This record gives sequence, structure tokens and C-alpha cells, in this order.
Amino acid sequence: MTKNTPITVHHTPVTVLGLGPMGLALAGALKDRGHPLTVWNRTPERARGLVAGGARHAETVAGAVAASPVVIVCLKDYETADQVLGPAAGALKGRVLVNLGSGTPGQARTAAAWAAGHGIAHLDGAIMVPPPLVGDPGSVILHSGPREVFEEHRATLAALGDPRYLGTDPGLAVLYNAALLGMMYATVNGFLHASALVGSAGVPAAEFSGLAVDWFMSSLVTPTLAGHAPALDRGDYPGDAGTLEMNLNALDHIARTSVEQGVHAAQPELMREIAERAIADGHGAENYLAVFEVLKRAAR
Ligand SMILES: NC(=O)c1ccc[n+]([C@@H]2O[C@H](COP(=O)([O-])OP(=O)(O)OC[C@H]3O[C@@H](n4cnc5c(N)ncnc54)[C@H](OP(=O)(O)O)[C@@H]3O)[C@@H](O)[C@H]2O)c1
Repeated sequence: MTKNTPITVHHTPVTVLGLGPMGLALAGALKDRGHPLTVWNRTPERARGLVAGGARHAETVAGAVAASPVVIVCLKDYETADQVLGPAAGALKGRVLVNLGSGTPGQARTAAAWAAGHGIAHLDGAIMVPPPLVGDPGSVILHSGPREVFEEHRATLAALGDPRYLGTDPGLAVLYNAALLGMMYATVNGFLHASALVGSAGVPAAEFSGLAVDWFMSSLVTPTLAGHAPALDRGDYPGDAGTLEMNLNALDHIARTSVEQGVHAAQPELMREIAERAIADGHGAENYLAVFEVLKRAAR
């Protein structure tokens, strides 16, 4: 190679099955980064833009799969993926299947077992950003399954964002996904309920939100969460700075205020119920985080 010979980077060919909003974003990111791209979608018209940009559209799933060593699936759910992939099991043999659709850990483990039974390397995944952020180097995409498969294809997966490997249990990516989205919805609902509460006195959400977000970010809640994690792991909830009994009072006031102001009270009532359960289990003199002992078990 002479000094002026350009370095050729070989990008792994990839097939994307499923061109909903997310599949289109994944396919676009791969194409933009130079991966030879084959796509398939039940509704083929959705592939038009990608084909105009140089991607190949396959008429059949088996044909799409046969075009690439790495196949990314982004369909509505695992049931849909089962229907779509089942007839193409033979074509998938020896290839890497990366499922980025949403589901439950049990479904991910079943899919991994199905793949193993057909000689297919299987990685599961969960995309933690909306479609417009796919391809951004900071966009977290979670993966679980065989480490060697993840490591071998890390560079390809990095075309989609920041790939994070969680472990060999194929269910881990969707388990983290449920945990993180659960946290997101609880936080958003907390803000919405708070806005409804002050709204019941005529305060616009736009007026409340500045103070609310400043307080939330700087107060006891957000900065200390990670600091409390080791205590959660130890089950150690010293109540010297405030007890669960004291927190039950606060929860009771939130629930009663909601009723008094005529707004939805089920969220604070549920939090109160969980705290009461923890107190009934003997955690009243510990701090609020002792409700973790209730949350770790199935509801009675
Ligand atoms: N959008 C997001 O913000 C986001 C974020 C993270 C994760 N995800 C996950 O990514 C996956 C795809 O999401 P999406 O936003 O692209 O939209 P979606 O509506 O969940 O999925 C659309 C895709 O599923 C296909 N599909 C649905 N039913 C089908 C069937 N019976 N047979 C064959 N194909 C079928 C659609 O094909 P047609 O085009 O033919 O209808 C399309 O390709 C989901 O599991 C979603 O939870 C989405």
C-alpha cells in the first residue's frame, strides 16, 4: 500500500426486518454509516425511501435474511417476530439475529431458545431512545445474550448508538427496559399529578413547572438515588433522619389533598398503601426506602 492509497473500511452487510418508525430509523443509521443494507417489511411501500437511497428491498423474509450475516428485527412485538421469522428459520441458520423489538424477559428467553435450536446466534436488545435519536453516539441501546456475539458485532451495533452489554441472560435487555421505562412513567405521572394538584387552584402547569423541576433536580430525590443503592442491596434502612411512619403522614396528606381538591387520588393512595404494608411488616421505624422490601415481592 502506498502512502496515498485510501484505507478501505469494510462494513458488515445488515438486513433489517420491520420498517415501522423505529425500523426505518435503524435502517437509515446503518445505511448512512455505509453498511450494505437489505430490508423487508410487510408493507413494502415503506421501503421506498431507503431503496431510493441505495438499499435493497427483498420480496421475502428468507430472501432478506440470506443477504446478510447480521439480521436486525424491529417488529411490533415478539409474537409478530415469531410469525415473521418462523418460515425463515432455515435461511437464518449460521447468522446473527438481533431482536430490538419490545417484550418481556420470558419472551426474549423463549426467542433465544428457539434461535439456539435452529443454529442461529441470538442477541436481544432494547432501544432506549425515540427514532430521531437513533444513530446518535450517545443513544443507549441495551443488549444481552452471548458476549462473544456482542463483541464480534459491537462495531456494527455502534452504528445505531451506544451499545451496552448487560450479560448472558437474554432476558436482561428487556428487563432493564421495563425497569427504566417504569421509572420514567412513574416520574412523568408524578409531575402530571403534581401539576393537576396545583392546577386545581388555578395555577398553570407552565408557572409550576420551573419551580417543580428545580426542586426535583436539586432536592433530596434525584442526586441521592445512586448513593442509596448500596443500602438497598444490604436491606439497611436506618430511620435516624426520618422514619417511614413520618413519611406515611406525608403520603396521607397528599392523598387527602387530592381528594379535597377533586383530582385523581389513586397514585398517592397506592403509595400510601405500600407504605402501610411496609409498616405492617415491621419497618415503621426505618427510613422511607424500606418500602423496597414490599416492592421486591409480588403484591398480595
Ligand atoms: N418508536 C419508538 O419510539 C420505539 C422506541 C423504543 C423501542 N421501540 C420498539 O421498536 C419496535 C418497533 O416499533 P415501531 O415504532 O417501529 O412501530 P410498531 O408499530 O411497534 O411496529 C411496526 C412494525 O411492525 C410490523 N408489523 C406489525 N404487525 C405485523 C404483522 N402482523 N406482520 C408483519 N409485520 C407486522 C409493521 O409492518 P407494517 O409496516 O406492514 O405495518 C412495522 O414494520 C416495537 O417493539 C417498539 O416497542 C419503539
